[in-house]
Amino acid sequence: MDIRIFDSHEALDKAASEVMVELARSKERPVFGLATGGTPVGIYQALIQVFSEERLSLKHALAFNLDEYVGLPPSHSQSYAYYMLQHLFGHVDMPPDQRHIPDGMARDPHQECLRYDQLLAEAGRIDLQLLGLGHNGHIGFNEPGRGLERGTHVVSLQEETREANARFFSEMEEVPKQAITMGMGTILQARMILLVVKGKDKADVLSSALTGPITTELPASLLQTHPHLLVMADREAGAQL
Ligand code: GLP
Repeated sequence: MDIRIFDSHEALDKAASEVMVELARSKERPVFGLATGGTPVGIYQALIQVFSEERLSLKHALAFNLDEYVGLPPSHSQSYAYYMLQHLFGHVDMPPDQRHIPDGMARDPHQECLRYDQLLAEAGRIDLQLLGLGHNGHIGFNEPGRGLERGTHVVSLQEETREANARFFSEMEEVPKQAITMGMGTILQARMILLVVKGKDKADVLSSALTGPITTELPASLLQTHPHLLVMADREAGAQL
C-alpha cells in the first residue's frame, strides 16, 4: 500500500489526475473505473485541463462508473449520469458508447446488474479504479454489513449514507432509497486502485479502513488486501494514519 498525504487539494487533484493521464498515455485501450461524489470533482477538472493542454485522447478508452441511484433519470441533476456529463464526459472525446454507468431507470434493476456485469466481463479487468470513501466506510455503494457481494447488485442505502448525500438534494425525502453498485469483487479485481479521501470528517474511517481489521462491516478495509493500492489523502483526512 502506498499512502501519499497532500497539503492542498490542488496538489492532490493534480497528482491523482497524473495517475490517470499516465494510464491513458501508456495503454492504447485503457479501462477506467470512475467514481462520483464531491471528492473527485477537482481531479476531473485537473484531468480535463491536462487532456486539453497536451492534446491527449480518450477515443479508445472505456469507462465504468461505480454506481447510480435507482429511479433517477440521466437528466436529473443529482443522477451520477448527469454528474459525469457535467464533470468529465462533456469535456473529453470518449465516445458515449464507451462510457458506462448503471441505468437507474431500468425497468428491472436486477436484470440491469447482469447487463452491467456482462459489459464489465467483455471489457476485461479495470486498469485503474478511482474510489472515494463513504463516511461509514462504504465503497461505491457497497454498504457495511454481514456480507458483501461480488458483482453488480441493487442496494438499499443506509440512512447514514442518505443523510450524507442529502446535501446535494433539496430535501431528505428526495434522496433515493436504493442504488445499483458495482460489487466489491469487481472493484478488487482492478489492476490498480486509487483511493482518494478529503476532509477531517473522514480521518477516523480512513484510519480504521487502512490499519484496522479487515471486515465486511467496513467495506473499505477490504482494500488492504489489494496488491496495488494507492491512497491519496489531504492532511485532515490523513491525520490519524
Ligand atoms: C457516494 C458515492 C461514493 C462516494 C461517497 C463519498 O455515496 N456512492 O462512491 O465515494 O459518496 O462521497 P464524497 O466524496 O462526496 O464524500
